[in-house]
Amino acid sequence: MDLRLDGKVALVTGGSKGIGREIATAYAESGAKVMITSRKADACELAASEIGNGCEWFASNVGYEDQVESLVDHTLDTFGAVDILVNNAGANPYAGPTIDVDVPRWNKTIQVNMTAPLVLTQLCWNKYMKESMGGCSIINISSVGGLTTNEQLGVYDVAKAGLIHLTKQLAAELGPKVRVNCIAPGLIKTDFAKILWDGERGAEVAASYPMGRLGETSDIAGCATWLAAETGSWITGQTIVMDGGGLIAFKKDTE
Ligand SMILES: NC(=O)c1ccc[n+]([C@@H]2O[C@H](COP(=O)([O-])OP(=O)(O)OC[C@H]3O[C@@H](n4cnc5c(N)ncnc54)[C@H](OP(=O)(O)O)[C@@H]3O)[C@@H](O)[C@H]2O)c1
Repeated sequence: MDLRLDGKVALVTGGSKGIGREIATAYAESGAKVMITSRKADACELAASEIGNGCEWFASNVGYEDQVESLVDHTLDTFGAVDILVNNAGANPYAGPTIDVDVPRWNKTIQVNMTAPLVLTQLCWNKYMKESMGGCSIINISSVGGLTTNEQLGVYDVAKAGLIHLTKQLAAELGPKVRVNCIAPGLIKTDFAKILWDGERGAEVAASYPMGRLGETSDIAGCATWLAAETGSWITGQTIVMDGGGLIAFKKDTE
């Protein structure tokens, strides 16, 4: 078994930056034809040209059904297939106690982190995967936050917890043609989480992880490649926590 993705077509949301871009790069280097999307056309175009290996792009906001339908149609028109879907785009528009969240920001959080992966999965299933020969794979990017509680990020964590359960549910429904798995990263050094790792705070978090460092986008891309490739062919419905051991570590300040 190897980690090659030759002959596969992959669609990666949030592929212009951070974790999504690293996954798109790893897939393209592993032989897949890759379509990336994000809201900003110029960022997508630049990322696709830097990723190379025939990477294509299509600007869309995953929160809007008409835009993701156009995205899936464009992927099928361009490459004739969509064997791998990575639901990576995420949003965190609210910080604070969950009890105080306003409904617009609650809805936005659910829309981008949970509804969009469902809608994209429906589109890929109905337009291609259900009639395919099989070997398809969906990978959802959740968060360790979806497995615990947090004073400030509870709303985001509820959505990420929903994504973990959605992964199990869809895996049960879509096998054997499609495997559905999830990755729950800890703190990864991207712009999305910069406020949590920049400066001294990052060093403190890193020291609290058994592995003694924060995550890199390449950590997540490696796992996403392993899951999509033949190596992951008997795993479905699972969430792989990648957090340097943070979730299982003793919390010194609460002992
Ligand atoms: N970084 C961490 O510590 C961490 C930890 C756990 C989980 N995660 C999860 O990992 C995923 C990727 O995060 P990241 O850290 O790589 O973030 P990032 O570096 O900020 O990149 C986010 C990507 O998503 C795109 N995006 C955002 N909203 C979108 C929307 N509505 N429609 C389409 N594209 C959208 C952004 O491009 P545009 O702005 O052009 O749309 C960008 O390409 C997210 O789901 C996040 O929740 C991150």
